[in-house]
Amino acid sequence: MTTALTPIPHVQCSPEEAASTVAREISDLIRARRAAGRGVVLGLATGRTPLGIYAELARLHREERLDFSNVTAFNLDEYLGLRPGHPRSYRRYMREHLFDAIGLLAEQAHIPSSDVAPGQWEAHCREYERLIADAGGIDLQLLGLGRNGHIGFNEPGSERDTRTRVVELARTTREDAAGDFGGVDNVPERAISMGIATILSARRIRLLAFGVGKREIVERTLTSPPSPQLPATFLRGHSDVRLYADAAALGAAGGAR
Ligand code: GLP
Repeated sequence: MTTALTPIPHVQCSPEEAASTVAREISDLIRARRAAGRGVVLGLATGRTPLGIYAELARLHREERLDFSNVTAFNLDEYLGLRPGHPRSYRRYMREHLFDAIGLLAEQAHIPSSDVAPGQWEAHCREYERLIADAGGIDLQLLGLGRNGHIGFNEPGSERDTRTRVVELARTTREDAAGDFGGVDNVPERAISMGIATILSARRIRLLAFGVGKREIVERTLTSPPSPQLPATFLRGHSDVRLYADAAALGAAGGAR
């Protein structure tokens, strides 16, 4: 594929500017589609990175009456092995940080289940892919970046053609989540994650990374050839991907494009 080495376009800005720009892009999309009598399918992420966007979407709902009734959402991933309603489940996170604040109903907001029995893993993942396809595919996917280059929970070793599946979490990922779970041993060992191919099927992808802790992985993502060893590099070559990162995360890459 000749597009394989297309760089990921990036915008250097503060986390606040990124939140306002991306939230505005989402609200413009929602309003344009509503005017055309159509819906919007959003792909959503968790972690600290998208919190500013979610706060801004909640503000637009409150202050500018942004109406989410034509939105369907699909989250990237969910821990496996947590009881429903677990405080650290991504479903809970999404309710607390976005869904309740914008009035998104349970039937509009899809997240893989955190308590699927092993015998049902495959069927559950296949069903998640089917739901995305039936909704018409994802219009705009938000992404954060793991310290090891994961997107969603596609850890190093994830191939380009992967779809939603059960994944083993990398040690660094579990260490990064240890604080949330009161120790690394309490962090689930597995998760369900959209695959790389699922993510790349989104029509627009907005990747965000802030802070010096992301500098090394941002630099490697921007400069390395696409490889399963660094799953975020598969974003190179997508026709509408953009990275929003602050000066701390961009470091030396800040001047280059
Ligand atoms: C978790 C999530 C990812 C997220 C990453 C980075 O592993 N599954 O979707 O992008 O963490 O998190 P943060 O935004 O807190 O740096």
